[in-house]
Amino acid sequence: MKSQEIRNQFLEFFKSKKHSIVPSAPMVIKDDPTLMFTNAGMNQFKEFFLGNGIPKNNRLTDTQKCLRVSGKHNDLEEVGMDTYHHTMFEMLGNWSFGDYFKKEAIHWAWELLTEVYGIDKNILYVSVFEGAKDENLNMDQEAYDLWKAIVPEDRIIMGNKKDNFWEMGDQGPCGPCSEIHVDIRSEEEKSKISGRELVNADHPQVVEIWNLVFMQYNRKANGSLEKLPAQHVDTGMGFERLCMVLQGVKSNYDTDVFTPLIREIETITSTTYDKNSLPTNPDGKVSVAIRVIADHLRAVSFSIADGQLPSNTGAGYVIRRILRRAIRYGFTFLNTKEPFIYKLVETLSKQMSTAFPELKAQKNLIINVIKEEEHSFLRTLDQGLVLLENVIKNTKSNTVSGEKAFELYDTFGFPIDLTALILSEQGYKLDEKGFEIELQKQKDRSRAASQISAGDWEVLLENNTEGFIGYDQLTTEVRVTQYRKVDSKKDGELYQLVFDKTPFYPEGGGQVGDKGYLEVPNGDVVYIVDTKKENNLIIHFTKNLPKQIDQPLKAVVDSKQRTRSASNHSATHLMHQGLRAILGTHVEQKGSMVHSGYLRFDFSHFAKVSNEELKAVEDFVNARIREQLPLEERRNISFDQAVKEGAMALFGEKYGDTVRTIRFGESMELCGGTHVENTGNIWHFKITSESAIAAGIRRIEAITGDAAKEYFTTQSESYNKVTSILKTKDPVKAITSLQEENTSLRKQIEVLLKDKAKNLKGDLKSEFEEINGIKFLAKKVDLDAAGIKDLSFELGGELENIVVLFGSDQNGKAILSCYISKNLVEQKKLNAGQMVRELGKYIQGGGGGQPFFATAGGKKPEGIEEALENAKKYLK
Ligand code: SER
Repeated sequence: MKSQEIRNQFLEFFKSKKHSIVPSAPMVIKDDPTLMFTNAGMNQFKEFFLGNGIPKNNRLTDTQKCLRVSGKHNDLEEVGMDTYHHTMFEMLGNWSFGDYFKKEAIHWAWELLTEVYGIDKNILYVSVFEGAKDENLNMDQEAYDLWKAIVPEDRIIMGNKKDNFWEMGDQGPCGPCSEIHVDIRSEEEKSKISGRELVNADHPQVVEIWNLVFMQYNRKANGSLEKLPAQHVDTGMGFERLCMVLQGVKSNYDTDVFTPLIREIETITSTTYDKNSLPTNPDGKVSVAIRVIADHLRAVSFSIADGQLPSNTGAGYVIRRILRRAIRYGFTFLNTKEPFIYKLVETLSKQMSTAFPELKAQKNLIINVIKEEEHSFLRTLDQGLVLLENVIKNTKSNTVSGEKAFELYDTFGFPIDLTALILSEQGYKLDEKGFEIELQKQKDRSRAASQISAGDWEVLLENNTEGFIGYDQLTTEVRVTQYRKVDSKKDGELYQLVFDKTPFYPEGGGQVGDKGYLEVPNGDVVYIVDTKKENNLIIHFTKNLPKQIDQPLKAVVDSKQRTRSASNHSATHLMHQGLRAILGTHVEQKGSMVHSGYLRFDFSHFAKVSNEELKAVEDFVNARIREQLPLEERRNISFDQAVKEGAMALFGEKYGDTVRTIRFGESMELCGGTHVENTGNIWHFKITSESAIAAGIRRIEAITGDAAKEYFTTQSESYNKVTSILKTKDPVKAITSLQEENTSLRKQIEVLLKDKAKNLKGDLKSEFEEINGIKFLAKKVDLDAAGIKDLSFELGGELENIVVLFGSDQNGKAILSCYISKNLVEQKKLNAGQMVRELGKYIQGGGGGQPFFATAGGKKPEGIEEALENAKKYLK
């Protein structure tokens, strides 16, 4: 069975059990501060488990793109080493939100595996939570009894909290789980040791394929567990592992999910993949590298398609590190010194686009970004090799210190495993402990900077979730429904407040969160410093808690800031439209930031946007502003209808079934942000900068309204100053002629200076005096450093045995130069560098150069004469 069919059968099976099929959420998470990437199928449903939202159907099923490379679930270092770990993988899941529980979850899982997919019951094991005394949790008897009715008891394994109690993070919904494991070893191996012994023991062919989680608790901030109001089911099956079992192969990499990529890597790099290779043998490294590259290519391509480009911070940095790990494996073990990973995107896209069309749609961008990253990291590797050679050269003992290795790793991005490998090849050791200490120090530093600890919510009012009402109102009376205290190293102590309804726009869709204040009945005011959305709750941040928190409070949005943000947001839509009209429809939004002061827009485009094009975009937007197009807003239109009508949806965004659309004339976007009532309110649009932020991605910054007015006022003031200084109405003409005049004057000065030097040379020749058989001259001249040098060398060309010292005062800066004939340098060991260094003290300065010519600069021109006098003493 092809992987494509395996995926479809899963979804169809649960559809037949009354589940709605939903699309995968983006792999890169944008609205949950506790997670960077989707690491489990249930992430996108967290709000339903927590009771902050209601699903359209309480039974859902999907295949979810997951990435386990950071935080609690991180498999990065395992990838390549074995045959069943991945950074990016698909998790097939079925969900019940307060609907069915253990019985159906267990029965359906068994039915699908054994009857639909036809997996032999005798190769399956199941596990059940054994309980945990420290948490006061009993064994999961209910699950045990349900399993006992369908599998022999010797195939049921009791598991501890680590394996059989699933938690997404430190806080939140959790519960006991039952895992289904598969034993695909040969009969011969099975006869030696029972699969039962190998469950959860890291055996490559006795692996977990499906996890059935029974959510029934909520882990609180203080670590205690409380019962959830309703019970839920969250299951996750590893798609690639399921394909391994159903396709009768021994490794995920031998399934049709990976083989096309592996064949391609073999062809491009002229290597051969060995299915049975182990990372421990030297030849095995080639196959490890091939697995790493095939895996990481998927992770990186899907991330870019979701809008996350490699960068130096946050999620982008994680993606960059994954790609660099692949490049480095290719570099060392496949001997690839030129970019090649980008060539695999074509194959990946062909193979996965049916299930994930974003790969096809974004193919060119993915190729360009990966290629550019490969180029630059290969350059880094080259430079790193040189730096490492230097480190080795300067290492006295046979061990390179952890600090040095860390510096290479941290400052230059040179991979530590490559450092270790090269050192061992050259007979050196790496102080690994020292490196680990440095790494830990750095981790502590960044953790300390980003740590946030949150208390538990204090609930004042239940079930009051009207949500955002701020499209229509900026002031309203609210009640606090829940609040908690959070402590972040960055912002200090803050309070998070949730209201029964709110006029405050929470940060989202690129637009910053509203600010404003709360007025308490006794007249006190508490400022709201930011507004964000988390798990479908709108959270208001304050520095203090309102005193009468249980009373109705007046909530007031800072309207000035809101108006400016709205103006910038509407202008962003018009600019998006303008860019597509002028540059072409390949332009896609890749990032947007709508601030009250300015807007920033990142988009795909493969060349610099020329000044003419920028001007055309500005004109386009300003024409729409002058047309005074009214806002046409629709709040609850179905997603499909909106797209059919031409609304632009973005890759990597999560949309609900119903969406909001914003239209100004021909511009129509799916958008939750706040906008002007009429484009005329934007007043004017002005682009302030255009730049590249990555291969194939450009960034434009622009301003509107008040900010544009201020910009033109400042520009006009400077212009007026310029015209008044130049006393002209045509400053361009005036400046051009000044520049021309300047060039011609410079030329004249050069000629004059040369003449002057020539005359001076003639005069000076007669001023030399003899000291110990040396012709000596020390003199203050009115020449700059270059003039002095020319004069010295000309004298040196015509006279022998000379020592010349020139001093000059150039606009308050002292220069001292010394010239010594070469024969004197050699025979008498005279040294011009040494001379100017010693004499430099008289002019409060220093310098150096070569033994036959050196120059010092100083702050004290008054000291020149003294220096010249002392030169003679020195020579004597
Ligand atoms: N949440 C569980 C897991 O990720 C089951 O989906 O393993």
